[in-house]
Amino acid sequence: MSFENIITETHGRVGLITLNRPKQLNALNDQLVDELSSALDGFESDERIGCIVITGSDKAFAAGADIGAMSGLGFMDAYKADYITRNWERIKTCRKPVIAAVAGFALGGGCELAMMCDMIFAADSAKFGQPEIKLGTMPGAGGTQRLPRAISKAKAMDMCLSGRLIDADEAERAGLVARIYPASELLSETLKAAQSIAQFSLPVAMMIKESINRSFESSLNEGILFERRSFHSIFALDDNKEGMNAFLNKRPPVFKNQ
Ligand code: HXC
Repeated sequence: MSFENIITETHGRVGLITLNRPKQLNALNDQLVDELSSALDGFESDERIGCIVITGSDKAFAAGADIGAMSGLGFMDAYKADYITRNWERIKTCRKPVIAAVAGFALGGGCELAMMCDMIFAADSAKFGQPEIKLGTMPGAGGTQRLPRAISKAKAMDMCLSGRLIDADEAERAGLVARIYPASELLSETLKAAQSIAQFSLPVAMMIKESINRSFESSLNEGILFERRSFHSIFALDDNKEGMNAFLNKRPPVFKNQ
């Protein structure tokens, strides 16, 4: 796969996507997002990949949607092209685990892109924000919906209405970020964690992800029923027998993803 605005690599069973528009601090335009979608398609269909990492540069994960590209849009342009909906949400349909490794700025659409991932690992340099209000616009890729679910209504209102940025510590305290690393270790530690996830049974990891995501879409009882049925179905997997037999025989498991 060769792209102009992203770089893709594989590290063992991990697919790494690096956003790469350095001069624009990885501002997100349709071309970048199309490339990201197609890289995700590739890693999703590659049986050798068990986990995906999306990262940016030391200075910016992504500084938001490309303001230059948006500035000329009228309502009919956005509506007819189905701006955002058409291609920006591919991450959310990924079935394999996706980790965002965020250093520097994750603002506006950049923060929203990180939140579409399953979890965010942050460098101590990370800064998150939804500053759209300062541009006379509002979050349009889930900021007003995923933020309150991640960090509470109060914090989401504060970030979206004031436009202020929060640092990695505040983001972790609020629940937006799963882990913080020194900037120089962010990528290596994230790849290590992704590799560790990728060596587990992929169908089990996918069912865990699906079940956690279901908790945001259903009542508690419905969610627990979904979890219970998924748990029951896992007894049909060879990997389930392998994991438990390996434990009982005091040896490491070898999962075959079936
Ligand atoms: C286009 C951008 C950009 C963006 C930065 N650049 N952010 N270009 N769209 N979102 C460009 C700058 O114009 C500049 O280009 C270069 O990147 C470096 O940026 P500087 O501002 O010179 O860097 P710095 O002083 O370090 O400030 C960094 C910054 C600032 C704080 C991140 O760039 C900034 O505030 N950017 C905008 C952040 C933002 O408002 N994001 C939300 C966008 S709206 P030149 O050519 O001058 O060197 C949005 C809506 C989402 O995301 C809707 C749904 C997806």
